[in-house]
Amino acid sequence: MVKHRAPRTHLMAVGAGLLLFVLLAVVAVRATAGPTQAGGVPLRDLAAEHGIRIGAAANPYLLERNRHYRAVLGEQYGSLTAENVMKWDTLQPERGVYDFSLADTLVDFAEKHGQDMRGHTLLWHNQNPEWLSEGHFGPDELRSIMHDHIETVVGDHFKGRVYAWDVINEPFRDSGGELRRNLWLRTLGKDYIAEALRTAHAADPDARLYINDFSIEGRNAKSDALYELAKSLLEQGVPLHGIGFQSHLSVGAVPDDMVENMRRFTDLGLEVTVTELDISIDMPASEEELRAQAEDYRTVVRNCLQVSKCTGVTVWGVGDADSWIPSWFPGQGAALPFDQDYAPKPAFGAVQEALSKAGFGATPTGPATPTASATPAGPAASANPATPAASATPAASATPTGPAPTASTTPTGPGTRSPGY
Ligand code: XIL
Repeated sequence: MVKHRAPRTHLMAVGAGLLLFVLLAVVAVRATAGPTQAGGVPLRDLAAEHGIRIGAAANPYLLERNRHYRAVLGEQYGSLTAENVMKWDTLQPERGVYDFSLADTLVDFAEKHGQDMRGHTLLWHNQNPEWLSEGHFGPDELRSIMHDHIETVVGDHFKGRVYAWDVINEPFRDSGGELRRNLWLRTLGKDYIAEALRTAHAADPDARLYINDFSIEGRNAKSDALYELAKSLLEQGVPLHGIGFQSHLSVGAVPDDMVENMRRFTDLGLEVTVTELDISIDMPASEEELRAQAEDYRTVVRNCLQVSKCTGVTVWGVGDADSWIPSWFPGQGAALPFDQDYAPKPAFGAVQEALSKAGFGATPTGPATPTASATPAGPAASANPATPAASATPAASATPTGPAPTASTTPTGPGTRSPGY
């Protein structure tokens, strides 16, 4: 039978119509986010030209309440990570009772705005509900709790909607090369890592599975130990796909050997991602410090671009008003590319420039002049509405299991922020 073939011109017209439709749809979706003060080509589009994602940690309360936050998040970022609402205390506050409502708000926003969703996080020592952290379960019971959580979250609920998971978060001690004696290690031994990865892979075979940690950006005892762990997991055929470099840094302290360090992981066949970038400054931040910070942002983005299997950079928050830094590290702040009012800072311009390629899109408009970000943040307590109840003591209320942060928190390495859990 001879099939009727549409004439070429007709096909081209249909193709052009479709393209126009897609473009209009993209414009319409972006428009719902509202305009921001950031000029030039959005970071997400510049990043896509390199085949990487620029993402941000997101918070559903701010998404609902603050239109500037919503606009910047929708317009600039191509990937979202749940800052808090995919942690165990939110998803399974009581044993066997799951609550996906807040996480779904973020996933819905991401889907509407053509953004990919990173899942954060499955096994961690913090932000666990009391029933879990104080449950004193034996190995069999804890193993079954772990399987249930991962299968329900990764498989039953988010399968196909979350492209990557931080399956294991912060498995090493703050500094040095020892595994952290968290709930999982104490009860299940070090094989908890392989078992969680295998369980997550069975639950969603398409999700990219990560180990995520801080103070591993350069070569040091901690990143050496992580390298050995990753190598041994891969040798055992464990489904580990990537390493997340959190990158909570202080201004002036991007490790010189970050590219070399990331490359040794990609040489193992892994991908790498900068997952939680922020660069803090002693407050009040001077214009000079904001310029130095911009250079650090530029360096981190360039570092990712220099590593062929670096999938992208996620910043830990949208603007300085919602960053976790002032409440966890009193006296520090101004850590993000947008300021207290969601206006772009020099760091935004630097990221935009680092991602710009000659001949693509409009020339970046240059960084906006720093505004309110240069002034000290208000009282730490009002900085980070991680939860609705968080306005009084944000970090403590969001982290029932950990000590409230204090000024005495010791950074673990040159320039890295250690929450000192
Ligand atoms: C932080 C959130 O940003 C805060 O709102 C919350 O109070 C504590 O946790 N490493 C991680 C993230 O993996 O989950 C942490 O997020 C920051 C350090």
